Amino acid sequence: MNHFDLKGSELACEEVPLARIAEAVGTPAYVYSSATLERHYRVFHDALAACPEIGEPWIAYAVKANSNLAVLTTLARLGAGADTVSEGEIRRALAAGVPAEKIVFSGVGKTAAELAFALDSGVGEINVESAPELELLAAIAAERGRRPAVAVRVNPNVGAGGHRKIATGKAEDKFGVSIAEAERLYAEAAKRTSLRPVGLACHIGSQITDLAPLEAAFGLMRGLVERLRGAGLPVERLDLGGGLGVPYFNQSDPPSPADYARMTAASVGGLGLRLAFEPGRVIVANAGVLLARVIHVHARPDGRRFLVLDAAMNDLIRPAMYDAYHDIRPVKPRAGEALAYDVVGPVCETGDTFSRARPLPPLEAGDLVAFMSAGAYGAVMASEYNTRPLVPEVLVRAGEFAVVRRRPTYEEMLAREPLAPWLASPRSSRP
Ligand code: LLP
Repeated sequence: MNHFDLKGSELACEEVPLARIAEAVGTPAYVYSSATLERHYRVFHDALAACPEIGEPWIAYAVKANSNLAVLTTLARLGAGADTVSEGEIRRALAAGVPAEKIVFSGVGKTAAELAFALDSGVGEINVESAPELELLAAIAAERGRRPAVAVRVNPNVGAGGHRKIATGKAEDKFGVSIAEAERLYAEAAKRTSLRPVGLACHIGSQITDLAPLEAAFGLMRGLVERLRGAGLPVERLDLGGGLGVPYFNQSDPPSPADYARMTAASVGGLGLRLAFEPGRVIVANAGVLLARVIHVHARPDGRRFLVLDAAMNDLIRPAMYDAYHDIRPVKPRAGEALAYDVVGPVCETGDTFSRARPLPPLEAGDLVAFMSAGAYGAVMASEYNTRPLVPEVLVRAGEFAVVRRRPTYEEMLAREPLAPWLASPRSSRP
């Protein structure tokens, strides 16, 4: 459920007509709904908290999905923690008011400088993904007189996810260590005076629409917890990652947070573990749209009809990168029979195609359209390819809206690139 609905004859976000936002900030623009963000966080939290075997969950929102400071602040005020994968994301979470102890630092390639920053910030947990990383962290922590809480990230060899590029739990994927290696690494961590091994972590993929692989992975994690405890090693926490899918298609019906919570409680509940979760997409995807304007409708003599938008693959890369489907809705739908459109952007490659032969109500130049479910992995993955400025982000709340990231000016974009000294003078360097 989200708060993007027709209000009269036009699409609105929490009562604010999207056309009004387009008028005020221009297009393309990302628009986020506070009510949807809040609702999704609460539904996810409450579903887990309602299971007595789970207790109070640690919900570390995956900052990578949408790291806008206003979005993070909205979630932080509801009590969210943060799952972070870079110094930049830790800085964002702290700036948004997430307490350091609710921050998890994950990722396969944390640099020494990032680990030092995380230690000095006092993050609540560092998820270690390999033996060399454990060594590096132990050394840096010892040097700085710290003793961080560490979880070992396990790669359970269970595949899941909406696309091969976002499946992370198979043995051949770069993430984490095997179950056997985790047992060894955990015991190793326990010997280090500068580390405090507290638990295990796993994250097997994203846009998971079937609970079975999650259940299989959680079962393996339970077995590992029991074996470690059997070996006399204390295990207090289990971080179960993110991954729960969302309905990108109206007809698709991924498991609900309540289904997910019941499965989790049955798989790993009752072990006296503090359970952590790292949801990203399920919190933000349906809380955001990308608003775009039709530049041309280009009908070819062969019957092909291109809908050329002012948004492109650099603004929303998911269709080009993962063949992802996003629902496209006209902001003021015109009457008439649906027509098949190839929906494209202005970027100079065929990859800049959002959808082929998409049936849509008739559209004309100047019309606005909204890419639905674009709140996750939309703005965060944008680039300035073709020297297209990063798209502004707008947050709506109960009839009000605010620009929460503005569009840079061309002057700002060009000013970031000083000339090399030998290019600064106008004369040509070759005779
Ligand atoms: N935790 C870890 C360790 C992760 O790597 C991820 C996502 C999450 C949590 C959050 O997963 P979620 O709940 O959002 O599924 N750019 C891709 C998705 C990449 C996901 C990367 N890791 C896309 O647009 O589909």
